[in-house]
Amino acid sequence: RRGPDLAVVGAGVFGLTVAERCAREFGLRVAVLERRDHIGGNAYSEIEPRTGIEVHRYGSHLFHTSNERVWEYVNRFTAFTGYRHRVMSTCRRRVYPLPVNLGTICGYFGRVFTPDEARALVAGQSAEVRDPANLEEKAISLIGRPLYEAFVRGYTAKQWRTDPRDLPADLITRLPVRYTFDDRYFDDVHEGLPVDGYTAWLTRMADDPRIEVRLGTDFLSVREEWAGRVPIVYSGPLDAYFAYREGELGWRTLDFETEVRPTGDFQGCPVMNYADEDIPYTRIHEFRHLHPERRHYPPDRTVIAREYPRFAGRGDEPYYPVNARRDRARLTAYRRLAKNEPGVLFGGRLGTYKYLDMHMAVAAALTLVDNRLRPHFG
Ligand code: FDA
Repeated sequence: RRGPDLAVVGAGVFGLTVAERCAREFGLRVAVLERRDHIGGNAYSEIEPRTGIEVHRYGSHLFHTSNERVWEYVNRFTAFTGYRHRVMSTCRRRVYPLPVNLGTICGYFGRVFTPDEARALVAGQSAEVRDPANLEEKAISLIGRPLYEAFVRGYTAKQWRTDPRDLPADLITRLPVRYTFDDRYFDDVHEGLPVDGYTAWLTRMADDPRIEVRLGTDFLSVREEWAGRVPIVYSGPLDAYFAYREGELGWRTLDFETEVRPTGDFQGCPVMNYADEDIPYTRIHEFRHLHPERRHYPPDRTVIAREYPRFAGRGDEPYYPVNARRDRARLTAYRRLAKNEPGVLFGGRLGTYKYLDMHMAVAAALTLVDNRLRPHFG
């Protein structure tokens, strides 16, 4: 029996899309090497055994896209519920809808504003800063000081463990403010959650006799078995591939404190942000609210996860690129190395050092298959 024709490193959304297309479209035998003991990368979810509630182990994952090709593709493997994401924020013992919209503004300033009045209010308050020199000033120039101090300052300080006055202005380009009562979090054409869960969806992508998923396999410890023998698509961390020879790329990570609580409803919504700095976590996820259609969830128990951000060390799960000036210089050096690495294509969130939503990871994988793999295998 012939060995695999292609090795894919990482069984996340990116790696699985590449593997699925290469197996089903080009008939290749694909080995997917995955360091963790489960498929799906950060989109993985599992059933909490005491409650039967589906828990997203790496934080709430909401699927949304306006890309028709991506939507058609993912619907081959799963149907989606009609879930629409909405987020609330607790701030100084009151609760408001996010992103900032007319409901937030009326609630926060304690009176009725028409859309035009609210626009004039925010324009006046944001005129305070002309030439922003740091993140705080940039945020004020976008939404004005009162809304910044309520909804952005504490949250950002906790996210970065840094005073926003010491963070660069270019960390944010926009802060959405809606002058309607529309409180939907995403404005994409398509949105929903996989009807029978993320893991069922992602397992179906790999369910093909030509795809072999090897869990618990760190490519970097077995690379000699693969390098130079078969083409490799690598979606692990870029700096780790090159043994950190240009220095480490900075990442932020999250710690989740997950708990079963003896109530049928802890907070009344799927995600509650905590804007105040004296509360150590940034958000609480309550997973049952992601699937209001699931009638079998228990009436008297629920699962919550408090989220604590921090900078990642080498042993931590890398989640969000820090993307400081130093990282950008290193990234340029790594990109040059990656371009010249024979027989290896780099992709995905970790392999490109770029935060990707799931639909972006699918789109990037389909593009890589079209542009780089089809000419050889198609
Ligand atoms: P991903 O990280 O998922 O997969 C990479 C895989 O490679 C991992 O399984 C890893 O173990 C493996 N790997 C790494 N090094 C390896 C090695 N040396 N050998 C073998 N395997 C190795 N998106 C969205 O659309 N909606 C959302 O709500 C969210 N929410 C969200 C929250 C948080 C906290 C994060 C971090 C991310 C999201 N996302 C998201 C993004 C979503 O998780 C993202 O699309 C995927 O992570 C991208 O898929 P990848 O396959 O590129 O990476």
